[in-house]
Amino acid sequence: MPAPVPIRLGVNVDHVATVRNARGGRHPDPVKAAELAIAAGADGITAHLREDRRHILDNDIVRLKDAITKPLNLEMAATDEIVRIARRLRPHAACIVPERRAERTTEGGLDAAGQAKHLRAVVRDLAASGIRVSLFIAPEPAQIEAAVALGAPVIEIHTGAWCEALAAGDAMAAEAEFERITRGAILAGSAGLEVHAGHGLDFLTAERISSLPEIAELNIGHFLIGESIFGGLAEVVRQMRSAMDRGRAASAVKAGGAR
Ligand code: PXP
Repeated sequence: MPAPVPIRLGVNVDHVATVRNARGGRHPDPVKAAELAIAAGADGITAHLREDRRHILDNDIVRLKDAITKPLNLEMAATDEIVRIARRLRPHAACIVPERRAERTTEGGLDAAGQAKHLRAVVRDLAASGIRVSLFIAPEPAQIEAAVALGAPVIEIHTGAWCEALAAGDAMAAEAEFERITRGAILAGSAGLEVHAGHGLDFLTAERISSLPEIAELNIGHFLIGESIFGGLAEVVRQMRSAMDRGRAASAVKAGGAR
């Protein structure tokens, strides 16, 4: 049996920018995080330039595009302003998402079927700039068929409802949603679409969904950035302890001479 095609990991660095913006300075830098993620095995970097610029800023996209050695996937609303920016900056890929200013994160899938006229023009304009377009949709046959009709080569299946049902301990709803994702991935794959998935994934859900051979890529952010705190905090505290101890030791040396 031939080995399965590897599944790609896109690391979303939005929340590195969320932490940076909390202080308004430059640290932590999402570009440095992107470089670290690539060195650790990420196949691409994802960043969402939201209309309210709550995390990623325009200049982050410019810097990411310049610095990283793997594809940049820009998540974006299909607004005139963001489409203009995307066409100027030309990321490798763009994932069109619905965006509501009051939401904490992208809550639902795009209504590709209901906004066909507007989205057709956006898909066409982005593609004309050499950008590979995906549509972030629920795994609904009507939405998948709309993506095909709009000429998008890629869809990203919204996995939020599945992950939320699991987190709420509702195993039946979770299984039903995973079934819907599986059927959606098969339908989209058979229609010739490249299938990605993302939202709310963690180690367990990423492992399970990676078993679906139609899925070529996962985009994961919040869990990875959150989990990095636990993976990295102990080492950073050790380094801080050493820095302070070195400073104090130097003061002891100084105290022996003139201050
Ligand atoms: N894919 C899309 C289209 C998204 O909008 C998001 C959230 O920015 C993600 C993936 C990543 O979701 P999470 O941060 O929950 O892993």
